[in-house]
Amino acid sequence: MTIPSNPSAQPQPGIQPGPSEAALAATPDVAAATGGARVASGIAAAKPPSREEVLKVENLTVGFPTDDGLVKAVRGVSYTVHEREVLGIVGESGSGKSVSSMAIMGLLPKNARISGTIRYRGEDILKMSKKAQRSLRGRRIGMIFQDPMTALNPVYTIGDQLAEAVLSHETVSRKQALARAEEMLALVGIPQPKQRLRAYPHEFSGGMRQRAMIAMAVINNPDVIIADEPTTALDVTVQAQILETLLDVKDQVNSAIILITHDLGVVAGTVHRVLVMYAGRPVELGETDEVFYRPRMPYTAGLLGSIPALDTASGEKLRPIKGTPPSLITLPPGCPFAPRCPLVTDICDDEEPELASTDGLEHWAACHHWTRLAEAEDPTKFFRAESEVRR
Ligand SMILES: Nc1ncnc2c1ncn2[C@@H]1O[C@H](COP(=O)(O)OP(=O)(O)OP(=O)(O)O)[C@@H](O)[C@H]1O
Ligand code: SF4
Ligand SMILES: [Mg+2]
Repeated sequence: MTIPSNPSAQPQPGIQPGPSEAALAATPDVAAATGGARVASGIAAAKPPSREEVLKVENLTVGFPTDDGLVKAVRGVSYTVHEREVLGIVGESGSGKSVSSMAIMGLLPKNARISGTIRYRGEDILKMSKKAQRSLRGRRIGMIFQDPMTALNPVYTIGDQLAEAVLSHETVSRKQALARAEEMLALVGIPQPKQRLRAYPHEFSGGMRQRAMIAMAVINNPDVIIADEPTTALDVTVQAQILETLLDVKDQVNSAIILITHDLGVVAGTVHRVLVMYAGRPVELGETDEVFYRPRMPYTAGLLGSIPALDTASGEKLRPIKGTPPSLITLPPGCPFAPRCPLVTDICDDEEPELASTDGLEHWAACHHWTRLAEAEDPTKFFRAESEVRR
């Protein structure tokens, strides 16, 4: 499929910067400090991203009309993904991570109200015909879902499903498609791939099914893989193996990855840059070690403080963020994090902060008081004393 290029949209402050030289060679070792899945070689061993933009999301908003009012699920999300880059999207349940990625895949329900642009190599996906969207999906943009059992059809063999993924986009023989399927199963580390082609999904373990999903996502050599919570259902050891496989495979097919997770421990060591979402908006964006070591948005600091530390010798307790995210139907006028934030002041109740640059290179945060985090020795400690929260 040839995709004509489009004139580029107006630049958005805070969103355009690609990975810096530091990120291109980044070796964040934060995974070692967290209880999340640890990837042995990790992103440091992966091929570095280029500066070529493959996907550019600008001011994406998604609302769902309901009997109770409009659910503002995504409220102005912008980011760019570069060739071979791994971008992590992190946030609590309901923050709009899946809805924004479903918009990219053209998989939102018909009643969804969508605005903004999603450009794949310059062309706005939202303006493409349904046919063109279908062709893009699975061919140029692959998707890995959290639960492979909902994505794999239980009544067809793994081989049939992988071959079908090829045949729906290419005019090749079934034999050639099956040969590709076997090659992909081998690539994702499934032993005896030829025999395994004849297996049904229920005959695979959870980890193997997720490997099969990775094979399905990459079988047509996509430019971008969207992996939505790909390891949540797996135990930590298998999580790490799957993430490692994902990074290896990404290098084989030269694709970028958007890795969606609620677990900061998963993105550590696995992604080049992190986008943190809260109540449908990006609240922090930066290179992985910038965001982990120098958070500039209290929500991120709270998430970091609630990761179980590998080193428990300090005897410190976990500090979960108290409270719950706001209703997306009746959002407060100011910062949506205000009711849970230890740094809240009156301005926070009146004005929702924009994503703006901070003191770090290509590091952006949406907080009126990010400088207070910059001054703190340990920003996560703001969440320690409940008494510090104003209400
Ligand atoms: N079809 C729909 N109709 C109404 N509201 C919806 C619909 N789909 C999603 N939402 C709402 O949009 C918000 C964002 O949902 P989304 O699935 O993107 O969250 P998420 O960040 O992926 O969370 P999780 O970590 O639980 O997967 C949620 O409040 C959700 O209830
Ligand atoms: S703007 Fe205010 S309430 Fe929102 S995160 Fe920053 S300090 Fe907290
Ligand atoms: Mg989700």
